[in-house]
Amino acid sequence: MTQARQQVQAHLDELSVTSRRHRGVLRLLREPATIADLVDATALSRRAIETLLRLAGPDLDRVGDTYRLVAAGYDELALPDDAPLAWTGREDPALADRLLPLIAAAPPPVKHLDHVPATPASVARRATWMADELWLPGATVAFIGDHDLTSVALALAVPDVRVVVVDLDTRLLEYLREVLPGAELHHLDLRDPLPAPLVGVADAFVTDPPYTPTGAALFVARGLTMLRGGPGAVHRRGLLAYGYGEQLPTLGLKVQRAVQDLEVVFEQVLPRFGRYVGAQAVGSASDWYVLAPTPRTARAVARFTVPDERIYTHGRQSLEAEPESAASPAAAADPADVLRARLAEHEASTVRAAAVTALAKALRAAGERPSKAQVRDLVAGVLAPAGSTVPDGETAPDGDERLGALDPAARAAVASALVALLPPSSGRPGPA
Ligand SMILES: C[S@@+](CC[C@H](N)C(=O)[O-])C[C@H]1O[C@@H](n2cnc3c(N)ncnc32)[C@H](O)[C@@H]1O
Repeated sequence: MTQARQQVQAHLDELSVTSRRHRGVLRLLREPATIADLVDATALSRRAIETLLRLAGPDLDRVGDTYRLVAAGYDELALPDDAPLAWTGREDPALADRLLPLIAAAPPPVKHLDHVPATPASVARRATWMADELWLPGATVAFIGDHDLTSVALALAVPDVRVVVVDLDTRLLEYLREVLPGAELHHLDLRDPLPAPLVGVADAFVTDPPYTPTGAALFVARGLTMLRGGPGAVHRRGLLAYGYGEQLPTLGLKVQRAVQDLEVVFEQVLPRFGRYVGAQAVGSASDWYVLAPTPRTARAVARFTVPDERIYTHGRQSLEAEPESAASPAAAADPADVLRARLAEHEASTVRAAAVTALAKALRAAGERPSKAQVRDLVAGVLAPAGSTVPDGETAPDGDERLGALDPAARAAVASALVALLPPSSGRPGPA
């Protein structure tokens, strides 16, 4: 083996899961190619290609402005002939079929952990994307929560990948022990610090976190901490499933901002990539975010503190279950209805001021720790008619939807606080 080849191998090892297109360059260099050809075929930067050519220098034959590999030993570094350079939308229905019975037999979803099962086709799509887009032979992929069984899909799609799963759900871990005996499984609450043996062990991570700013940031921060070389290892990747209802762009922005506060780049965002059974509030869909660490990520993750507020969405995914709760006392005194019905008889500013105070108190009593901004948002959502325009030109979210994001205890507390807020009006629907 030549010294140049050793240098190329060391370079590819450093590039880790992001070395796929570089390996594609080596495949192309079996035939004479110019730098422009190589840029064109791989979409790698000219600089990346020049680095590779420089390292392989003595093993290349240069004629005019074309290069060709002439030394032996590069085939095992090059992308295999039948492997795509990148994911181009390939689906794997056979993999989805294999996952179907495994997902059906998994422990049923529990609401308080924000479980909403992804469909077998989506789980297969995640694995297919990873198989086609990352360089995974010999790599370790960490799953930061995995009730969807994406770890199982990946192990089926890429047999020589090492899988580590961390989750709070012991039922899930027991199930994975049965169906994925080779996986390394860890029971932990991600709100606690990661145990030392889990720091710096993975080349990539996958997470479908709770869809709150704090939940998403927490799961991503833990995933970044598990990356080999530290959270700022620029050649590792994080994969995040996240979706928001198109009526709640501000929530989408807050979650994206919370994740970007960790100083990661959104290298790709693939829309409606994941589909779910349930979660109709977010269109039963999530986007697929490819997170690339930057040199700033390590400091941002070191500064990250676990939010003391709740990380879960609770009722968000159960909006479709609303009719069941229609008979409950909280539903009978629907706060949005009460407020809307009485607004006509009271000064809007008086209602708003009183509502902010009452809501904050009610939420605290229900165990929530809302920030002032969250309470103001909630009040604005309750008071604004659905679909109306608020001053910054954005469409106001429906108050019912915002309230639906609260858990039942908080909803009940909010309802009774609002009922107490204003005297009932005659002839209008009022609280029971
Ligand atoms: C938050 S759920 C998101 C929905 C996802 N589609 C699913 O059903 O798995 C993702 C995973 O995170 C796990 N999880 C939830 N809270 C956790 C916590 N505090 N620590 C560790 N794992 C947690 C859940 O058990 C689940 O496996």
